[in-house]
Amino acid sequence: MRSQAAGIISDQKQAQRQGFIRGTGLAVPDRVLTNAELEKMVDTSDEWIRTRSGIRERRICADGEDTADLAARAGSKALSDAGVEPIDVDLIVLSTATPDHLLPSTACETQARLGAHRAAAFDVSAACAGWLYGVAIADGLLKAELFENALVIGAEKMSAIIDYTDRSTCVLFGDGAGAALLGSGGDVANGGTGLLATHMQTDGRCAQMLWRPAGGAAMPSTSETQSERLEFVKQEGRDVFKRAVLAMEESSRIVLGKAGMTIDDIDLVIPHQANIRIIESLAKRLGVDRERLYINIDRYGNTSSASIPIALDEVRRNEMVPPGGTVLMTAFGGGLAWGSAVLRL
Ligand code: ACO
Repeated sequence: MRSQAAGIISDQKQAQRQGFIRGTGLAVPDRVLTNAELEKMVDTSDEWIRTRSGIRERRICADGEDTADLAARAGSKALSDAGVEPIDVDLIVLSTATPDHLLPSTACETQARLGAHRAAAFDVSAACAGWLYGVAIADGLLKAELFENALVIGAEKMSAIIDYTDRSTCVLFGDGAGAALLGSGGDVANGGTGLLATHMQTDGRCAQMLWRPAGGAAMPSTSETQSERLEFVKQEGRDVFKRAVLAMEESSRIVLGKAGMTIDDIDLVIPHQANIRIIESLAKRLGVDRERLYINIDRYGNTSSASIPIALDEVRRNEMVPPGGTVLMTAFGGGLAWGSAVLRL
């Protein structure tokens, strides 16, 4: 049986080994898809898209530009920001809902492009919450002393799985990638930078509220599934909307409680960028004013698990949080899966 003394020592040691941010980076395709262009593709309007979602434009991959390309570009920028060579990366955790292939993982393909040949690499599948899941997993592995650093990437080519004849989904999503290199040794208990707390939760009973019915092992792609457009994302927008607000509110409160903080202690909230109305409802319920809310959905749309690391990189680059300030990040998406993290920068 583990003695109390041993437990205390181990907890203290763990408190000095939290993941902390050593560098961040983002990558988005050059091609901009505007609301005006979408007006010509489906029965929609710039006014509807802006008022119902907050999106003005999104980035879309060029032919031949893939998830691993975006991931490697974002990852490379995070490594440069940290001053770390690819060969010194220990672990790559990559979240995506749009893997380039079903086998092998996109993390493996990204590792090769990066030249991080010494690292272990694997994918995480938790839709829009995937990057926060990746961060929580990496933090645990760093604390367990399995690795010294971890490159956590969220990369999505949503344009590959979106039906551009379906106006209820095609206006919402965009492509992009964001990355953070986590180092171990964030001594948060003594005021150092790093992860103060993480939270993850899932409700698989609602899997079909947001899913791609065909293209996996249960319903392989055939000419019939393709003609019925079953390989593309289907979602029950209104139900997902309501659940997103409630789940991110609850998860935010849980993670704040774990960190021993209240919302007033947070300098900036970085919510998943799915819909401006979801973000505003969440902010109202949490009691967060516009000044403490990071929003970039107007420029990128919903980039699924890339949305939070893209935002985090912009926040760091624009010095929107003072040194030692804290951010609350929270996300929700297909699964249904959601999660949050509190990070001292
Ligand atoms: N342009 C014009 N009209 C449209 C469009 C469009 N692009 N899309 C839908 N409409 C119409 C509908 O057909 C409907 O018309 P009707 O009343 O005649 O039937 C009307 O607008 C209202 O439709 P709703 O679905 O009720 O619209 P809502 O206000 O709920 O907005 C939206 C839809 C934007 C999808 C919203 O529900 C939403 O954002 N949901 C959550 C999305 C989300 O967060 N997903 C999770 C993350 S994604 C991931 O995990 C990969």
